[in-house]
Amino acid sequence: TDYLYYQELDSTNNRARVLASEGYPEGTVVVADMQTAGRGRRGRSWYSPSNQGIYMSVILRPVLPLKEISRISLLTAVAVAETFEEELNLPARIKWPNDILINDKKVAGILSEAVTDMDGIEYIVVGIGMNINNQLQGFPGDFRTAATSARAEDARPVSRVKVLQGLLARLESHYLDLLAGSFEGTLKKGKSLSVAIGQELRLDTINGFLVGKAIDIDENGFLLLRDQSGIVHTIISGEITIL
Ligand code: BTN
Repeated sequence: TDYLYYQELDSTNNRARVLASEGYPEGTVVVADMQTAGRGRRGRSWYSPSNQGIYMSVILRPVLPLKEISRISLLTAVAVAETFEEELNLPARIKWPNDILINDKKVAGILSEAVTDMDGIEYIVVGIGMNINNQLQGFPGDFRTAATSARAEDARPVSRVKVLQGLLARLESHYLDLLAGSFEGTLKKGKSLSVAIGQELRLDTINGFLVGKAIDIDENGFLLLRDQSGIVHTIISGEITIL
């Protein structure tokens, strides 16, 4: 595996996409100490100061049916949540599809970007941002109340390298299980860590919004939402707000 470390990048996802298009193999890991233009979902930015967070992207070239691709974002969320729980002893949960929360505040986010060609998925860049040693005063105003870091939840500073190693080991193990056709364990873990299941929520998508109750996460990582008229919708992507 190639591990590429940079002191500074605009975005590890941008760098990983360039490397993937140049043919870098599955498993290539791109890490930066800081990002000048870290990207979040839905056009948001990701606050990426030096010496505090983990900013990393991995190139994957999965041979999977297209409908199973969302399993990768679920497994990534599970690996990140387990890393907070098992390496740092912090009670992390997953807010579907892939925000990681501690005590209801966001501590990590995932940005997966798939590039397709005529044969289907050419590669996926899975980008992970984790707030580790950040002091909350440093966060931009809008995030200060909604975000947290490992440090803010449990004062001891921790080694980012150790956390990253723990994360990569868990990611690899869940990914190899997926490729081997055994996703059940990961799915079960993802459901048990989910803050959405059983909750009334509002879902915002590019097409509008829905209000209903999250009843389950299906075998592909999609959210099953029952609306007020009893219709169950299979949600592939969107943003939820628990009501
Ligand atoms: C989100 O919650 O909106 C997703 C945030 C993803 C941030 C990470 S940091 C490493 C990688 N590079 C980026 O530009 N974004 C992701």
